[in-house]
Amino acid sequence: MLQGKHILVGISGGIAAYKIPELIRSLIKAGAEVRVATTKNALQFVTELTLQTVSGSRVYSDVFAAINEHSTEHISLPEWCDAMIVAPATANVLAKMAAGIADDALTTTICSCTARKPIVVAPAMNDKMWESPATQQAIETIRGWENVTVMEPAEGMLACGVVGKGRMPEIEELQEALEYALTPKTMVGKRVLITAGGTQEQIDPVRFISNYSTGKMGMALAQSCARRGAEVTLVCGNVSAPLHNPLGHIHRIDALSAQAMHEACLKAWPQQDIAILCAAVADFAPETKAENKIKKEALSVQDSVFSLHLKETPDIAKALGDSKRADQRLIGFALETEHEKENALHKMERKNLDAIVLNSLRDKGAGFGTDTNIVTILQADGSVTALPLQSKALISEEILRVLFS
Ligand code: C5P
Repeated sequence: MLQGKHILVGISGGIAAYKIPELIRSLIKAGAEVRVATTKNALQFVTELTLQTVSGSRVYSDVFAAINEHSTEHISLPEWCDAMIVAPATANVLAKMAAGIADDALTTTICSCTARKPIVVAPAMNDKMWESPATQQAIETIRGWENVTVMEPAEGMLACGVVGKGRMPEIEELQEALEYALTPKTMVGKRVLITAGGTQEQIDPVRFISNYSTGKMGMALAQSCARRGAEVTLVCGNVSAPLHNPLGHIHRIDALSAQAMHEACLKAWPQQDIAILCAAVADFAPETKAENKIKKEALSVQDSVFSLHLKETPDIAKALGDSKRADQRLIGFALETEHEKENALHKMERKNLDAIVLNSLRDKGAGFGTDTNIVTILQADGSVTALPLQSKALISEEILRVLFS
C-alpha cells in the first residue's frame, strides 16, 4: 500500500509525459510522497512548474544546475525513495538504461537506483521504435534485473495517428505496478482461485435474476494476491468494478451463471492451493431458459400473479469443500442480516471451509457496492479476527495477512 511511501517518478521525453501529473496526483492521493527526476526533453512535453506544483517538490532535471552545486541528487533521490517508476520510458532511455549510460539527471538517477530499490519501467513509444531490435534487446536485458519490473506497452491509438503497440499503460495500471513492486513476495508459487461478482440467471434472452454485488471485494483480493506473487485465476460473474492487472498475473474467466461458475471452479480447483469464494452466487435459477423473449400475453397470469419456477443451483463452495485435499485451503464469505456469527459458523462447517469472512448488511459502510467494508474473520480453529471499517483494498490485504502469513 502506498500510504507513507516515498515514490520517485522518472520522466523521459515521450508524448505520454503529459499524463504524468495525473499519476503524481493519484500517488499523493493514495498517501505517497513524490519527487520527480526528468530528462531535458521530458520538459518539452510537461512543464517543470506543473510537475513542481503537483508533486510539491523541486524537479531534478539538470545535473549541473547552480542549485545543485553542492548536492548529488542522483545519489540522494534513490536513497530517499522506496520505489522508482520510469514513465514514459522512451527507446532512448531504455537503451541507455540497459547499457548503464548515465549522461543526464534521469539516467544518472536510474543508474544509481537499479541495484538498490524496486523500479517499475513503463515503455511508451511509436510501434516501429518498440519493434526495433535495439529496443527489444534493451528490454530483454532490463527484464533480467532483479529489482526491475518492466510493463508491456498497451495497444491502441498512438500519438502519430496509427493503431499499434506502444501506448503508455493507464495511470491505474502504473499505480498497481508500483504496488506490486513494493509488496514482499510471500505467495510466490501459490495458485489462488477467486470468485467475484453476482451471478446472472437467465429467464429469457433479455431478462435475468441477479443481485447487487459489483465484484469490488473479489477484484481487490485478486490484486492483493497478485502483488504477493501468486498466480491468480479469477472467475467473474456480473462485475462492474475495474480490475487492474498490469503484469498479467491474473487469469480472468467470465462465467455469468451459477452453473457456469460451478463448472469453471471445479475444473480449476485441482490445480489450486487456495480458493477464496467471494461471489454472490444465486441459490436458485429459472428451471428453464426461454429461447425467445417471453411475451406478456403468453403468460398464464392468475389474479395478476405470474409464477416463475426456480430450481436449486449448485453450491460451489460445498462442492470444492467436499473434494478439498489436505494441502488446499478454502475460504468463503458470508453476508448476513441476522444471527450473523451463528449462521457464518454453520456455513463454514457445512461447506468444509477453513475460514469464513463475515460481513453484515446491518453495519454502515459494509456490503454491496461500497468502497469500504467491515468484516470478521472466523477460522475453523476457533480464532476470530474483527477488522474495523476500511477500504476493500485494505481489507483484502488484512485478510491475506491474517490467513496466509
Ligand atoms: O450459503 P451462502 O450463499 O450464504 O454461502 C456463502 C458462501 O458460499 C460464499 O463464499 C459464496 O461465494 C459461496 N456460495 C457458492 N455457491 C453457491 C452459493 C454460495 O460458492 N451456490
